[in-house]
Amino acid sequence: MTVVGIDKIGFYTPGYVLDLVALAKARGDEPDKYTIGIGQDYQAVIPPNEDIVTMGANAAKQIIDDQDRQKIDMVIVATESGIDNSKSSAMYIQRLLGLSEFSRTIEMKQACYAGTYGLMQARDYVTLHPEKRVLVIAADIARYGLATPGEVTQGGGAVAMIVAANPKILSINHDSVYMSRDVMDFWRPLDRSEAIVDGHLSTDVYKEMFMTLWQRYVQQNHKSIDELSAFVFHLPYTKMGKKALLQILPQATEQQQSLLMNHLQESQRFSRQVGNLYTGSVYLSLLSLLCHASDLQSGDDIAVFSYGSGAEAELYSVTLQSNFEEYVPKTLLHDLLEKRQVVSVATYEDIFKQQLTRSQIDTTTAMRSTGYNLLGIQDGMRIYE
Ligand code: COA
Repeated sequence: MTVVGIDKIGFYTPGYVLDLVALAKARGDEPDKYTIGIGQDYQAVIPPNEDIVTMGANAAKQIIDDQDRQKIDMVIVATESGIDNSKSSAMYIQRLLGLSEFSRTIEMKQACYAGTYGLMQARDYVTLHPEKRVLVIAADIARYGLATPGEVTQGGGAVAMIVAANPKILSINHDSVYMSRDVMDFWRPLDRSEAIVDGHLSTDVYKEMFMTLWQRYVQQNHKSIDELSAFVFHLPYTKMGKKALLQILPQATEQQQSLLMNHLQESQRFSRQVGNLYTGSVYLSLLSLLCHASDLQSGDDIAVFSYGSGAEAELYSVTLQSNFEEYVPKTLLHDLLEKRQVVSVATYEDIFKQQLTRSQIDTTTAMRSTGYNLLGIQDGMRIYE
C-alpha cells in the first residue's frame, strides 16, 4: 500500500499574547494555579482583524509551494469557530492561497476532534489517488468568556498540513481506534460566541475515553506501550495530557516511563505559550514534540490521541520518516512565538469585547498582521486581503 501522511506542517498564531500570571493576579487567583495546576503560561490574543480564515491561510502560506498548488485538489478546514452558517471557510482560503478552482473545499465540525477526521479523510483519498495532495487546516479561537473558570484555557491559532504520498515528515498508520458518545461536557449554541463547558466532567470523559481506546488499541494492534516513542494529546490545557498519560504509565518499563514523560513535556511546550487551539491543539502538540525532542529517530512510532467534546475520540499512530527533522519548521515557529507582543489585561479585555458589526469596515491598521487580514464585514460579507 502507498505510504501516505504529513508531508509538510505549518502553524500560525497572531502577534499578541497575554501573560497568565498577570491574568491570575487580575482575577484574584494564585498564579501557581494557572501555571502549575492547569499548566498554562500564556494565551494567544486574537485581534479583530483575524479569524479562522486568516489564521488558516497564514499557517498554510508557510508551507505551500507551486508544486502543491498544482497537486492540491481538496481543502478541508476543521473548526468549531465557523464564520458563516452556510458558506465554508475553506472557500475563502482556497482563493487567498491561489489554489485551483478544480478542487473540493469543505468545512468540518465535531468540537476539537474534526481535524483528525479531516486528516483521516485526506489520508484515505491520497491512498486512492497518490498523485494528489490534500490541504488540511485546523483553525480555532477558544473563547470561554471574561472572568469565567475556562478563561485561563483560552487561546487560538491554526495548524496547516499537506497530506501526500511518500511524505517527508511522517506516515499515518492504519491502526486507528475511535468512539463517539453523546455527552454534554462542552457546547456552544448558535447565538453564542463563547463556549459553555463543564470542565470537570470533560476531564473525566477525556480520561475515560483515552483508557477505553488504549485498551482497544493494544488489543487490536498487538502493540505495547514500550513500542511507542511518545504520546501526543489534545491539550485544552497542558495538565490534561499528563492526567491521561499517567493512567497507563505503570504499563511501561522504568526507562520508558521517563522517556515518555520527557516527550510529554516537549509536546506541551507550544500549548503552554499559546493556549487551546481546539481542533489544532493535538497537532500543535505533535509539532511541539518534533520541534523540541532531540532524541527522536526515523522509524519511531508516536501515538496521537484526539478528543472532541460532545464527545468523540480517536487514537492512532504515526511513523517518523527518514530525515523528518529537516522538514520541521523549528526556527520559523520559535520566531513567531518570540516576536509576539505581550498585552495588558485591560487591552486583552478590550480586544475580547470587540466585535465587528455587519455593516462596519475596520479601518484601523494598528493590529494588522503582515499576512492575510479580515478588513471588515459589509452587508454580512466578509472582506479579506
Ligand atoms: N498551586 C498549584 N496548583 C493549584 C493551585 C495552586 N495555588 N490551586 C489549584 N491548583 C490545581 C488544582 O489542584 C487542580 O489540579 P488537579 O486538576 O490536578 O486536581 C488544578 O489546579 C485546577 O484547579 P480547579 O480547582 O480544578 O480549577 P477550576 O475549577 O478553575 O477548573 C479547568 C479548571 C481546567 C477545568 C477550567 O479552566 C475549564 O473548564 N477549562 C476548559 C476546559 C475545556 O475546554 N474542556 C473541554 C475541552 S476538552
